[in-house]
Amino acid sequence: MARNDILSAEGIRTFLCKPLSGCEIYVHGEIDSTNAECKRLALNGSGDFTIVIADRQTSGRGRLGRTFYSPSHTGLYMSLVLKPKADLSGAVLLTTASSVAVCKAIENVTSLSPSIKWINDIYLNGKKICGILTEAISDIESNAVDSVIVGIGINVSTAAGDFPKELQDVAGSLSASGKVNRCRLAAEIVNQLYLLYENLDAAVFIEDYKSRSMVLGQPVYYIKNNVKYCATATGITSTGGLIVRNEDNSTDILSSGEITLRLNRTEKTV
Ligand code: BTN
Repeated sequence: MARNDILSAEGIRTFLCKPLSGCEIYVHGEIDSTNAECKRLALNGSGDFTIVIADRQTSGRGRLGRTFYSPSHTGLYMSLVLKPKADLSGAVLLTTASSVAVCKAIENVTSLSPSIKWINDIYLNGKKICGILTEAISDIESNAVDSVIVGIGINVSTAAGDFPKELQDVAGSLSASGKVNRCRLAAEIVNQLYLLYENLDAAVFIEDYKSRSMVLGQPVYYIKNNVKYCATATGITSTGGLIVRNEDNSTDILSSGEITLRLNRTEKTV
């Protein structure tokens, strides 16, 4: 960890855009999960753009019930409480918007060029460097969204050999040199998301999403109703769905779930 890379609320606030300068920021040395903490805060009335960051998570959560490896000093584990004026489908757009915001922030802070693997994994040099977990708190009766929690986990400077064995082939880091300032990166992600969130409209960011997509034109596998399909990813819809062409030339639109890229004719689950 670089000497100046200490996470602090004031360090993050310095880099936030003016409209966000008063938002609540909580920085923890260690916590179970920043998403879990945001949920607790949201249920206790915390407002839009409440930011929770931890240096280490003891129960970092990933999509589909997986865990997210969250060692100390070398990652950025951040969650936001958002209060979108949107229904559940509008809130889903926040996942796509978050991927774009993370890529733009990385580009601005490091000059690196990450890619997006549908729906919202961020890759660099063929390895996953960031995962995003979006969760909603909604009112069951009215279906109205009370809060959306966007959780972002970035391997900032984790050395290749420090990942658990099962992740070593698939996980990577932004920079092994430890030169990325995590406060600046965190604030830039929040700033970029704020720009998209103000008038949440896929038309504004879907081209930015597509231009960073690593799956378009690629052969993929996906599973639907327990059937495995071989297909080619051919497009992204205006709301972030993945358009695939199956081997029998039929077309499908995937709106959630997972795909596996078929790289060099060997399966690579990422
Ligand atoms: C995935 O790749 O499956 C999503 C991973 C999301 C991890 C982040 S780290 C910050 C936030 N807190 C969590 O417990 N999970 C998200």
